[in-house]
Amino acid sequence: MAFVEFRDVRKIYTMGEVEVAALDGMTFEIERGELVVIVGPSGSGKTTLLNMLGGMDSCTSGDIRLDGRLVSGFSDKELVQYRRHDVGFVFQFYNLVQNLTALENVELAAQICKNPLPAEEVLELVGLGHRMDNFPAQLSGGEQQRVAIARALAKNPKLLLCDEPTGALDYKTGKAILKLLQETCENTGRTVVLVTHNSAFCAIANRVIHVKEGRAGAVEINEHPASAEVIDW
Ligand SMILES: Nc1ncnc2c1ncn2[C@@H]1O[C@H](COP(=O)(O)OP(=O)(O)OP(=O)(O)O)[C@@H](O)[C@H]1O
Ligand SMILES: [Mg+2]
Repeated sequence: MAFVEFRDVRKIYTMGEVEVAALDGMTFEIERGELVVIVGPSGSGKTTLLNMLGGMDSCTSGDIRLDGRLVSGFSDKELVQYRRHDVGFVFQFYNLVQNLTALENVELAAQICKNPLPAEEVLELVGLGHRMDNFPAQLSGGEQQRVAIARALAKNPKLLLCDEPTGALDYKTGKAILKLLQETCENTGRTVVLVTHNSAFCAIANRVIHVKEGRAGAVEINEHPASAEVIDW
């Protein structure tokens, strides 16, 4: 059994009389420790599938499994525990608490977990050991995203889920964040899932899953992924 499994997952949003199939029978697998890029055009269902995998919303039908557990069968109470302990999220716009310092933002997330990593250590790891006492507004976009990655990692999650993590950053900063995510995967053995519309990111992944109109299509396995440093877009 694969580490992550999506089996014929559907998510229907109903707006008045209109039904939108954001996920329309999505099936794919991810192995433990992989850096996975999920790529597809705007509206193809990338954020929706990440929300389902992260237990932030439930699917209409189908099976979602992580590490042998049926996430799509969880009760609301189980979902709270799952979001707390098993997954870390990184969003396009960081979502930091503005009136807490970098260190406090990371500590806040660590506090609710069973086996958190020390907040200072994780901030060192993302290269922000010297900016721990700064507030988000005092940090650049790239630095704020590093805090957000530290916050997710401090939870010591099974899965790191990233939704367009470089979307708000310039080219050079975006590349540095990709490199950090790639190193995180290589050095900690953590499974990292990155969704993007930028097909240039595919080269750095162990596994690439192409999505289109709510379905997963071709899957590519890169035996020798490129370093984030050498890709161009
Ligand atoms: N809460 C919602 N209510 C109704 N429709 C929704 C909702 N969320 C998403 N959708 C629809 O589901 C489809 C997939 O949306 P999703 O946000 O997953 O796309 P995406 O691939 O993340 O796009 P982008 O690259 O622009 O972020 C779209 O047609 C969208 O309009
Ligand atoms: Mg999206």
